[in-house]
Amino acid sequence: MTAPQRTPVDALHTIAPGLREAFRSHRYDVDGVLDLLGTDAHAALGRAEPVPVRRACRDSGELGTLIRLLLLNDPCPRTEVDRALGPVDVDTAVAVGLLETDGDAFRSAIDVRPLDAGHGTRWLFSDLDGAMRPVTIAPDHVLGVGQASLSLLRASVEPVGRVLDLGTGCGVQAVHALSGAAHVTATDITSRSLAMTRAGLAINGIGPTRYDLRTGEWFGPVQGERFDRIVANPPFVVGPPTVTHSYRDSGLDLDRASELVVARAADHLADGGTACMLASWIVTGTDWRERVASWIPDHGVDAWVVQRDVADPALYVGTWLRDAGHDPRSGPGAALADDWLAHFERSAVTGIGFGFVFLRSTGEPTDLLAEELSHALDDPLGPEASAYLDRVAWLRTADLETSRFSPAENLALEQISTLDRGSGEYGTGWAEVVARVHRGDGPRWTHEVDDWGRALIAGLRPDGLALGDVGALLAAATGVEPVPGAIGEFVDGLVRHGILLPEPDPGQTRHGHW
Ligand SMILES: C[S@@+](CC[C@H](N)C(=O)[O-])C[C@H]1O[C@@H](n2cnc3c(N)ncnc32)[C@H](O)[C@@H]1O
Repeated sequence: MTAPQRTPVDALHTIAPGLREAFRSHRYDVDGVLDLLGTDAHAALGRAEPVPVRRACRDSGELGTLIRLLLLNDPCPRTEVDRALGPVDVDTAVAVGLLETDGDAFRSAIDVRPLDAGHGTRWLFSDLDGAMRPVTIAPDHVLGVGQASLSLLRASVEPVGRVLDLGTGCGVQAVHALSGAAHVTATDITSRSLAMTRAGLAINGIGPTRYDLRTGEWFGPVQGERFDRIVANPPFVVGPPTVTHSYRDSGLDLDRASELVVARAADHLADGGTACMLASWIVTGTDWRERVASWIPDHGVDAWVVQRDVADPALYVGTWLRDAGHDPRSGPGAALADDWLAHFERSAVTGIGFGFVFLRSTGEPTDLLAEELSHALDDPLGPEASAYLDRVAWLRTADLETSRFSPAENLALEQISTLDRGSGEYGTGWAEVVARVHRGDGPRWTHEVDDWGRALIAGLRPDGLALGDVGALLAAATGVEPVPGAIGEFVDGLVRHGILLPEPDPGQTRHGHW
């Protein structure tokens, strides 16, 4: 492993306008790179296999040079780099930390690549991650766009007004938030991150009146301020209270970083403001939901907590050690693994949960739902989070009995039966053991339903009877009176999950969008 040259990047933003011009004119964007490489070489790039990419770039002009220079980290001759980066000249690119010399040639000292997360190409700067050539991951390594960054982007509620991006890193959340928001305050503890973010904002044509970059820990840089949106992908790695890399270690024990961010976010939300955060929590003998619920204020927010995955301690430690370039088979790597696992054992940790926490400021008693969604999600979670919080607001004031509902458009009923061999006079046949109603979009929620429940759902129409009347008819028809409160609880769950959609009645209810 060789240490990367760590030229300061404080002046990187000064070449951003020129780089933008070069990138646009040579089509160093998501579509341009794919067009030049073709699907096979592009897939090879994703697998960090440089040879097919290098071959596809032969005689491919400036875009080929940019791909070799910036995506493969290949050394390239001055004349080619000059042509590809112009109007930025090579010496300036070296001076501001974009490039470094390699003999007579030049290669990238940092990562700059295009990304299209649904708003067209954006370029982001970060430190080299070692995918294409060996590097040592420095303590203040600026993380590039990873799966966690993308999952937070997809889960974020549409940004509006003033946004806080806590722990901005390469600025991926800040840059994307500004496609809808008026202003972003981006914070980080490392000046290197903020310099990369400044360059990222500049190369995407975002002027300095639209952002504020502040150094400091947690909510320290925004004391007393409130925001319409908060996004945070904090350094939430769960482990001993030590810091080896600032992008993942908080210095706080176990899941205290997530606790801190989740517990304090509400103090920085404007009325009706929403926070979308990635978080991790330890799983011990108790229900994980109780632990996360204990972080959330009793008053003032609607909260939706989604556990996406749980890792066992061994898998978790091995994954994060490899992420930082440690070999769990080697002496030092093995010692780190042992310390980490011993810490988990002392703390009775049996698993590490990971997911999202959404909070909306309401000024009302807190409503909290914590649930697991461990299956693959095709649709982005952001619109669903927004709709979920709107539905909870509606439920707070709605009179369910007098409300009308329509079943969501894409519901399906799944019935599972097993063969009941019976005996004697009962004969044989299929006996239903469970029935579930499925929503076919969004997080694809399912709810178990009995005969009564499925008949109730089928009997609801936007222009039909109110819920209470449909329930009374069903009771008369079946001779089965539901347990008091049971319909309300059943319908509350279906409304939260968008399986039943209230028929809007502005006189009685307050709605967001459904
Ligand atoms: C996981 S990275 C997230 C980067 C980026 N927001 C993303 O979504 O990819 C976490 C960032 O938080 C920063 N950080 C670490 N400790 C912090 C603290 N106490 N307060 C604020 N930011 C911190 C790190 O420097 C790093 O840039």
